[in-house]
Amino acid sequence: MNPLPWWKTAVFYQIYPRSFADSNADGIGDFPGITAKLDYLQSLGIDALWLSPHFPSPNWDCGYDISGYTEVAPEYGTLDDFKTFLQEAHARNLKVILDLVLNHTSDEHPWFLESKQSRNNPKADWYVWADTPPNNWQSCFDGDAWTYAPERGQYYYHYFMKQQPDLNWENPQVKQAMWDAVRFWLDLGVDGYRLDAIGTIYEDPALTPHNVPLNLAGLRRFSEDAKTPAQKKRAEKYWYDMFCHQWASPKLHPLMKELRAILDEYEGDRMLVGEDDNIDYMGNGADELHLVFNFPLMKLERITPALVRKNQKERLARLNALPTPGWACNTLGNHDRSRIYTCYGDGLHNAELARLNAALLLTLPGTPFLYNGEEIGMSDYLITDPALLRDTMATWYYQQMTEELGIPPQEAAQRAAEMTRDKNRTPMQWNSTANGGFSPAKVQTWLPVNPNYAEGVNVREQQDQPESMLNYYKRLLHTRKQSPALQTGEYKTLHPQAQEYLAFLRHTPTQTVLVLLNYSPNRQQIGFRLPGKKTARPLFSSAGRGSQEQPLGKIHLGAFEALIAELH
Ligand code: NOJ
Repeated sequence: MNPLPWWKTAVFYQIYPRSFADSNADGIGDFPGITAKLDYLQSLGIDALWLSPHFPSPNWDCGYDISGYTEVAPEYGTLDDFKTFLQEAHARNLKVILDLVLNHTSDEHPWFLESKQSRNNPKADWYVWADTPPNNWQSCFDGDAWTYAPERGQYYYHYFMKQQPDLNWENPQVKQAMWDAVRFWLDLGVDGYRLDAIGTIYEDPALTPHNVPLNLAGLRRFSEDAKTPAQKKRAEKYWYDMFCHQWASPKLHPLMKELRAILDEYEGDRMLVGEDDNIDYMGNGADELHLVFNFPLMKLERITPALVRKNQKERLARLNALPTPGWACNTLGNHDRSRIYTCYGDGLHNAELARLNAALLLTLPGTPFLYNGEEIGMSDYLITDPALLRDTMATWYYQQMTEELGIPPQEAAQRAAEMTRDKNRTPMQWNSTANGGFSPAKVQTWLPVNPNYAEGVNVREQQDQPESMLNYYKRLLHTRKQSPALQTGEYKTLHPQAQEYLAFLRHTPTQTVLVLLNYSPNRQQIGFRLPGKKTARPLFSSAGRGSQEQPLGKIHLGAFEALIAELH
């Protein structure tokens, strides 16, 4: 039998390059900075890195507006710095996947600069052009989806900001140019790609208008004001209706197959993970994407045992129904999302809940993705001075609120601070010196550092504390790595009615592991009757219990305890 491909047993760790480690004191993270932290990453116990875009970019969307697909952003270093990073990562058995942004380029990319010059230049048809806006489509970041280019007297389409024009994927030259870029990095040895916003690549050819009685700013405001379940449902429906003609085209399947075929030409199980939760993009399970994220889990407002059970039941049933069963992929945070510590907290037990959720992520079936900083319990940092925001989607909304919607500036600033993704992209906190050790003292960092670096939320201090969040993650990662059942075992729900705790098994022919996560401040006494099993030997406990065997008929769980035990 073939051994499993590496990405099935790996734990991924997302690095946001701008915020990871600044080696040259310019307030911005860079490749030499990342390379210097590889020993840290190796000691953490992760197996693979996903880098958010590291390409040249005018940064209207923090690197997701790319102006050169086969280059390194000068502020991050040189191509040689990248090669050194890759080599050093591989030397430590860490795989590396890159971000691949197919839907759009920067409006400063040479392709677009050429395309917008005239209606008959060689790249005239590389983007999506129209004489007049053909419909009322919105961009999901900054209002109208059609922007006028005076040079050519036409409008171009953009799903994201107007600085991110959509490529015309109907044009075979576009495809060829992008596949060349894909091969460029694969040839250098990268292990795969995270595919940005794939759902948005093709639009409805009939250009059907949306029927929502609001524009983007109005809908944002409507969603924020929605408090009752009925209002929230309506807001959700509006979001769907506003954008449903602009994404999820069936044409994506042949495109993903083509891309998959390119990766399959290379040795070493190169892989693709889609920024989408639609399992259809895995094709027959072997001919499109290797993984898609379980975003429905991440998007839960609160993580409760009942909701996790429901989520797993639905996802695993769909994955297993593919002709070649699909592999799950879970995450609870990334650069677009409020941090785990903040968003699933209840204000009283945030630390306990963050630990439970880490245990959940690292014990559910599938490949887990961690986001840099979660391992030290970094939390959201609200930037209430709009002048300090770097996420232009938030600055646009602040402007709309104050200029169009009549919201007082202070309230608008608070709203912008809460909705911006800057709050979860602040620099990594390495130690307790000024700037959290991300940049030297006195350097102005690109986003402010969360001041809680000085209150123990930093790597250096936590390394020395056996009970820190960092050592908790390390122990969890180690437990997972030692356990065949946690890495690859079948999943079976136990006690499906339990409201306060989650109980499930992971089992392979050689090992059965019981996972118990108590999502409540109440102690629990739980009993199981399982054929052939009598005792549970703890492999991991958040409550610091030893490895003393417990009778399966009577297990005590402390408040918010996470317990992982091997059954005998
Ligand atoms: C998804 C990325 O995760 C997000 O950060 C970006 O703004 C959009 N795609 C557009 O590329």
